[in-house]
Amino acid sequence: MGRLDDKVAVITGAGRGIGRDIALAMAAEGARIVVNDLGGNTDGTGSGMIADGVVDEIRAMGGEAASNTSSVSEVSGGESLLQTALDNFGGMDILVNNAGILRDKSIFNMDEADWDAVIAVHLKGHYCCSRPFAQYIRENNRTGCRMINFSSVSGLFGNFGQANYGAAKAGIAGFSRVLALELAKYGCTVNTISPGALTRMTIPLREARGEEVSTTELDTGGPQHVAPVVTWLASEEAASISGQIIHCASGLVGIMQQPAIIKSFQKSELWTLDELDKRMPELIEAKQANDEAARGSGAASSV
Ligand SMILES: NC(=O)c1ccc[n+]([C@@H]2O[C@H](COP(=O)([O-])OP(=O)(O)OC[C@H]3O[C@@H](n4cnc5c(N)ncnc54)[C@H](O)[C@@H]3O)[C@@H](O)[C@H]2O)c1
Repeated sequence: MGRLDDKVAVITGAGRGIGRDIALAMAAEGARIVVNDLGGNTDGTGSGMIADGVVDEIRAMGGEAASNTSSVSEVSGGESLLQTALDNFGGMDILVNNAGILRDKSIFNMDEADWDAVIAVHLKGHYCCSRPFAQYIRENNRTGCRMINFSSVSGLFGNFGQANYGAAKAGIAGFSRVLALELAKYGCTVNTISPGALTRMTIPLREARGEEVSTTELDTGGPQHVAPVVTWLASEEAASISGQIIHCASGLVGIMQQPAIIKSFQKSELWTLDELDKRMPELIEAKQANDEAARGSGAASSV
């Protein structure tokens, strides 16, 4: 008995990296898998048939899988994911919005094409793939579904040189909070992953700093560490967890803070600038104390 027996999972960008490991992990738990991947370069150019290789791997381990090579950045591509699931497996229960690209540049050098390409794959890609799935859930009253979206510390904390990617990834966290509310009535959960893994997306960043990535590091920090957490969130055991941001990397699993008002003041008249001179530092102080407390409670406990 697998934890995902009888479930159909669609995983975008599953031809390599984190998505591939999620596809293999979910297949090992009995899910039938749609392996989506456009098969292009890290910057979003090009295409290839790498999804087929993962389909073969799943079949070789006795699982069921179908390939889809559409781009998630197009509405028709998102619709084709649902169609591939329906044509091959007769339904859809799980969507993992994992596909991604990078075009890192500081804002001084980021042209419109770099902005548009990254927003299209990540933020619009989440819309393109999620909307047909959400409509299918509503039209068929398909309860118990799962959506797992991919954000990043780049958007949640901020990272130099990634205004396009950070904006998309912060947007995905907001998108997920809204969909968690909108799909709750169907018993479906929507959660966000903030992953960390050594893949073709991150290894070159390390190499650019002159740091070699060893085989040991690939073992301790590879995408295989993200897959069990995503698989668990897709399972029945996670039915009550929605609207959360889960951070996972290299054996660490944690929960992120969500935006919340930490401290506030109220008055009935307009604030004067002199009053703000006094109150703003108090707000900043409360924020710093809150950050400090989160740093303490967020430090990983060994288990
Ligand atoms: N690796 C990390 O440390 C890290 C950190 C934060 C966030 N993420 C996010 O995790 C996700 C997976 O990243 P990864 O490290 O495995 O990267 P990766 O490059 O190894 O895999 C991403 C896959 O997405 C596919 N893809 C790209 N554009 C597509 C499109 N338009 N349609 C369909 N498929 C497309 C690529 O072909 C590739 O196989 C991404 O969303 C990434 O932004 C990764």
